[in-house]
Order: sequence, then C-alpha cells, then structure tokens
Amino acid sequence: MKTIIDCDPGHDDAIAILYAAQHLDIVGITTIFGNQTVEKTTLNALKVLTLAGLDYPVAKGCDRPLIGSAPLATDVHGASGLDGVDLPEPSMQALDQHAVSFLIEQASRHRGELAVAITGAHTNVAMALRLEPRLKEWISRISIMGGTTGIGNLKPQACVNILSDPEAAHIVFSSGIPIHWIGYETTRTVLMELGHITRLRDSGKRVARAVGDIAFYYRERQLYVNGLNGAPMHDSCAIVPLIRNDLIRYQPVHLDVALEQGIARGMTVVDRRPLQPQAVLSSVSARRPDNVLMASELDRQAIIETIITAVLNYP
Ligand code: BDR
Ligand code: CA
Repeated sequence: MKTIIDCDPGHDDAIAILYAAQHLDIVGITTIFGNQTVEKTTLNALKVLTLAGLDYPVAKGCDRPLIGSAPLATDVHGASGLDGVDLPEPSMQALDQHAVSFLIEQASRHRGELAVAITGAHTNVAMALRLEPRLKEWISRISIMGGTTGIGNLKPQACVNILSDPEAAHIVFSSGIPIHWIGYETTRTVLMELGHITRLRDSGKRVARAVGDIAFYYRERQLYVNGLNGAPMHDSCAIVPLIRNDLIRYQPVHLDVALEQGIARGMTVVDRRPLQPQAVLSSVSARRPDNVLMASELDRQAIIETIITAVLNYP
C-alpha cells in the first residue's frame, strides 16, 4: 500500500518507519515538531533511513501547532529526540519542499490509493486539508496513534500527539476520510521487553542492534517517566492496520477532540453509547455519526513479533 508516514522521530517513530518499510510502498516521510524540534526530528528521520539504506523522500513540516505553542517530549526522547543510539550521519538531505505541499502533491499523484499514518501532532495533515479540500477524496485512509480513552501522558487523560495541536487533530478527525485510530491507553500495553531488546542487540545485525539500543533507551526513560516496564511500540501500532487486519480489532465510534481551555483540552471524547431509539432522543443527546474505527482488541505478542521480524530482516 502506498503510504506517507507523518511523524516526529522519536524512538518509537523510528522503529515504526523501519517496520513499515519492510511491508509498505513508502512514498515519503513527512516530519513534525513533537518529540523534538522539527529540525531534529527531520535529521533523525534522515539518519534512520541512512542506517537502513532506504532513500525515501523526507519533507520537513510544521514547527509549531496552529495556535500557541507545545512542549517538546525531551524527558522521554532526550536532547536529540533520539538519544541512546549511534546513528550514521545522513547520506541525503530533506527535500526543498514543505511537508504540507508534499502531502498534497503525493495525494494528487496517487489519488484513491494513498494511506497516511500520523504518529505525531496533526498540524501537517490539517494544513494540507485546509489548503486542498480535495484531499478528502484523494487520501484513501488515515491511521492515527494518539489520544486516549483512559490514562494519558502529558495530562491525566490526554496524549501528547493530540494535545500538541488539538485544533489540527479536530480538523483531521472531522475530515470524513476513513480513519483507523489507536489510543495511548492501548499502545502503552504493547511493550518491547528486555528479552526482545537483548535478542535484537545480540543478533549481530546492524539495524537490529541499533533498534535494540533505541528500545533500550526508550524503555529506561519510560520506566522512569511513565512507570512502564518495556519500550512501548506506540507508533508501530498505527502501521499495523496498513499491513495486516488480523492483529487489531476495531469498532466504529464517534470521536471528538475537546478544544476548550482547561483540564479537558486535548482529550479525545469517544461516544460508544448504543444508538438510542428516536423516543428517548428528546432527553438524551444523540450519538453523532461514526467517524473513526477505534482499536478495541489486539494481539500484543503477535504485534511485537512482527516488528522484531521486520527489523531482523535488515542486513
Ligand atoms: C506518542 O507520543 C510520542 O512521544 C511518541 O512518539 C508517540 O507518538 C505516545 O504518546
Ligand atoms: Ca511519535
């Protein structure tokens, strides 16, 4: 499947790119602020591609949300955005074209057959949708990691990828494009554990060793910051539905992003209520039409194994 990965590498984004590259026809990588500045996430994308001998176009995207500013996730991803691993200097440069224009150009070129995986803030895709409304017909599917229906990270019940730019996320979720969505409360349970990490580090393979280092650092920071005993494969979970349909089960729901200032800003509010009969609708607000397929069940071990198998496939 032709795919653009819109991301902020970032440890788990880096692994998602390498996983996706083994299965999908990647037409490009677009970058965004988030885990670090967009300059650093772009450099990291180029380094990861160089490590794996991949030469996809990389287009640098937005450096801030539509409104205001957003914190960078340095406490988890470090000063470089990808601390804990030695990566080669890039053998190529980013395009001289903004990510927003690249997204529109590629969606136009591959009308009806382009998927976009969003694993960072939604600013690039939201800007593209506003500039070129026909994107709604051109992009066949969006797969999103971000938001939560339970525990959050940056706030009690909000996840950084949505909270970094709630207005942009609102534009994307209400675009009408078919969306596969997986929330933080679920992806934080898809863990690459120490045993998996050792397997990668001991493999004797260059890319797998680097991924082992990436996951090792990420696990340590996650343990310290979020109390997780493993490296969560958040962003690879947005790649899974583009590759296989047997690892994650989805259910249709209506999802809204809370835009008000205050404790609820950036929350993803999911309506899972049964459709009410007409008779009760005078007293109960009606459930609005479903706009996303929400991940509800998953095979965690199988997901981790497919990621590891993909990574071990590199020389
Ligand atoms: C998300 O936040 C980022 O720091 C990770 O890369 C992931 O996309 C998890 O909440
Ligand atoms: Ca990310």
